[in-house]
Amino acid sequence: MRAVTGIQPSGQVHVGNWLGMIRPAIALQDRYETFTFVADWHALTSHPDPDVLRRGSREIAAIFLAFGLDPARGALFCQSDVPEVSELAWVLGTVVPTGFMDRGHAVKAARDGGRDPNAATWWYPLLMAADILLYGANVVPVGQDQKQHVEMARDMAIKMNVRFGDDLLVVPEVSIREGVGLVPGTDGRKMSKSYHNTVPVLDAPARVRKAVLSIKTDSTGVDEPKDPDACFVYQIYRLVARPDEVEEMARRLRGTGYGYGHAKLALVDALERDVAAPRERYEALLADPATLDDVLSAGATRARAAAAVTMERVRERVGLHPRRSGGRG
Ligand code: ADP
Ligand code: TRP
Repeated sequence: MRAVTGIQPSGQVHVGNWLGMIRPAIALQDRYETFTFVADWHALTSHPDPDVLRRGSREIAAIFLAFGLDPARGALFCQSDVPEVSELAWVLGTVVPTGFMDRGHAVKAARDGGRDPNAATWWYPLLMAADILLYGANVVPVGQDQKQHVEMARDMAIKMNVRFGDDLLVVPEVSIREGVGLVPGTDGRKMSKSYHNTVPVLDAPARVRKAVLSIKTDSTGVDEPKDPDACFVYQIYRLVARPDEVEEMARRLRGTGYGYGHAKLALVDALERDVAAPRERYEALLADPATLDDVLSAGATRARAAAAVTMERVRERVGLHPRRSGGRG
């Protein structure tokens, strides 16, 4: 069984990415063969600075490794190192009508915001479906906001199988870990780079602390009882602290003499406990780009081998000849 996921190298990875996708994806490696990639082609849709994009691939790889992804058990690679993914996206594009593509979140968000999206943004769900279907994903760990894209991939797999034979593509399931699909940011909306409301995950402790201290709270005073479920600090805390600690914070918030400031400091401590060792590993990995490149290169080789198997089957079923040159290399 396989688990496949990707993340764009576009900006600083935050606590929402970590809790919503990175941590659950790594946890799956005990039960699944994992394919984890840096979605650099997807990132191109938003015109990143080339230097930032170049650095971003290694940074994302380092984050997954620092949090415990085992590159011996699964493939860690860059999307653009597997050109088969764009071949499959092309074929998938032939089985869906344009109206289906118009419903994609990325293109809708751009149009709703009065922007004219580039054609690659419109194409985005096809590339993402190809990422998923190429490696035969059984499950796709993502946060809530990517659910629709995975459902589009499911629809495409089903359409392909109806047209070209039932066992052509594995129909994937979305995997959203209970309670972490939508981690709140410092203003209470979904934590997102786009909202500038993030708590960085592997940044210097002082910056993490500053972001946590800026989490919005209401004006209930220290000596008044508070509702934990309405408190964004608590909502994040319960995803990182131990169950007994979570219960303790809830109890204290409901009582008196415990303010939001206390809760914030408890959250800073709980985060630091989980990220201190990964931060050290992350920094060591970034200082050793050759090792990162070796991991990404081995991952790409493994991913291409899996991709070639799917592409040969797809080419054969749709009536394209077997590839005449290049082979699996
Ligand atoms: P952003 O919204 O900051 O641009 P991305 O879209 O790059 O984040 O998301 C990368 C991964 O992290 C996706 O799987 C996404 O669903 C997940 N994710 C992002 N923000 C959150 C959040 N606030 N809560 C849970 N998961 C999240
Ligand atoms: N679109 C995803 C995001 O922005 C990244 C992504 C690309 C992805 N291909 C994927 C996620 C395939 C899961 C599976 O977060």
